[in-house]
Amino acid sequence: MAVIDESYAWQLIQDARRRLPALPAVLAAAADDAPELHVDAQFRWHSEAEVTPAAAALLDALLPVAFGGSRFVIAQIGQSLDGRIATESGHSHYVTGEASRVHLHRLRALVDAVVVGAGTVAADDPQLTVRHAEGGNPVRVVLDPRARVSGACKVFRDGAAPTLHLVGHPHAAIGRGVECIGIDVGEDGVSPQSILDCLAERGLRRVLIEGGGVTISRFLQAGLLDRLHVVVAPLIIGSGRPAVSLAPIARLDSALRPPCRSQPMGADMFFDLDLRG
Ligand SMILES: NC(=O)c1ccc[n+]([C@@H]2O[C@H](COP(=O)([O-])OP(=O)(O)OC[C@H]3O[C@@H](n4cnc5c(N)ncnc54)[C@H](OP(=O)(O)O)[C@@H]3O)[C@@H](O)[C@H]2O)c1
Repeated sequence: MAVIDESYAWQLIQDARRRLPALPAVLAAAADDAPELHVDAQFRWHSEAEVTPAAAALLDALLPVAFGGSRFVIAQIGQSLDGRIATESGHSHYVTGEASRVHLHRLRALVDAVVVGAGTVAADDPQLTVRHAEGGNPVRVVLDPRARVSGACKVFRDGAAPTLHLVGHPHAAIGRGVECIGIDVGEDGVSPQSILDCLAERGLRRVLIEGGGVTISRFLQAGLLDRLHVVVAPLIIGSGRPAVSLAPIARLDSALRPPCRSQPMGADMFFDLDLRG
């Protein structure tokens, strides 16, 4: 009997993201006997074929991203039980486990652009490419209003994917395949909407805000995230860089309580928050 395993499920998810068929939709590989997956408007799926547990978890987590639409902004964060993404010194390798790393790389493969703040590039020197999953690299975007990130960082040197360097005062590009773009920096910093506008002008409309906490919080506070993926590791750091920090609220009635689905992700717990409401 036909089986939908993790690898086939990932193929269907990538295909849905490329074609963006209207929901409800039937997804299947091109081969005649390829198993079909039916997806409804709430991203619920069913199939006549056997679906392995790993494939089911993947479909639950990523069909809402694949079908997120041609304009879609998602953020993901890996945090400890006490809401930290790194130590005080910025050490963050690794808060969450291998499964969450694969998930992050799949998210990168499903978007046009991945955005990180200057703090993350300075602390981690990330590549922001897709290596732990099959898929193409997104455009890399470094939000660096004060142009403090070193030109020696991998994103500016490795030429692995087009890279946009968003700075307050544009200067000559600092690396191969790097475009330096001036953005308005006001008293409150850079408006997250202006970042999305700048990316949309370049055809980059499906965007992953990858971190760190400051950058994600700015987009969340501005109400610009469609979804937030939070992976919580059973770890207490006790101090350090916070995941989400928003303007203070007086009462819990004002807290964000978006619709949420959760599932185990390796030894961690994965939360998928739908913020479109
Ligand atoms: N666990 C995870 O999922 C995860 C993911 C990513 C990063 N990290 C860790 O998180 C730490 C970095 O996070 P972070 O929260 O400290 O910093 P961050 O969000 O990476 O970068 C913050 C900086 O980016 C610039 N920035 C971001 N949004 C801005 C806006 N709207 N307007 C103006 N400037 C803006 C500012 O640069 P200036 O300071 O130059 O003004 C700001 O201080 C690192 O230790 C990294 O290892 C963890």
